[in-house]
Amino acid sequence: MVQIEQIFPSLTWRIRHEAMYPELPFDSVKLPDDFEGIHFGLYLDHKLTGVVSLFHRDSIYQFRKLAVLPSAQKAGLGSQLMAYILDFCKIQKATKLWCNARVNAKEFYFKFGFHETDRTFFKDGYDFVIMEKEL
Ligand SMILES: CC(C)(COP(=O)(O)OP(=O)(O)OC[C@H]1O[C@@H](n2cnc3c(N)ncnc32)[C@H](O)[C@@H]1OP(=O)(O)O)[C@@H](O)C(=O)NCCC(=O)NCCS
Repeated sequence: MVQIEQIFPSLTWRIRHEAMYPELPFDSVKLPDDFEGIHFGLYLDHKLTGVVSLFHRDSIYQFRKLAVLPSAQKAGLGSQLMAYILDFCKIQKATKLWCNARVNAKEFYFKFGFHETDRTFFKDGYDFVIMEKEL
């Protein structure tokens, strides 16, 4: 059974750490503006298994740290979180959703209609590209 709900910022940290940066210190997954964000958790059989965080300036929304626990990846959960935040953004009348995408996750975002921009960078051992979608 899958449920998605809004969660406290601190609940995202363990999932982010295990899914995205297990090699870095725990505190490195905390974002300075976490307490200004809107955070969602996906519960699989009542266990927190995936998270994503939304930040916005006016009607431009950014999602950050989409993460699904390694043992539960490739089972459609990341897609469910993505579909959920796209709906949420539309309800908020967002005009654009963007993200700093890991280059190796680009294909995942293409499926949801995001397109690549020419803005790229390298951080914490990963190549990133900014991807965006008009809503
Ligand atoms: C990226 C991530 C959130 C995707 O979540 P997930 O639950 O594994 O994804 P889903 O099972 O919903 O995948 C949906 C589709 O995207 C594909 N996909 C998932 N991750 C992919 C990746 N890294 N590269 C290419 N395709 C990917 C799946 O194969 C699937 O394709 P299909 O529908 O044709 O079978 C998850 O793998 C993750 O947490 N990865 C580590 C952290 C990370 O890279 N986060 C993104 C940072 S930008």
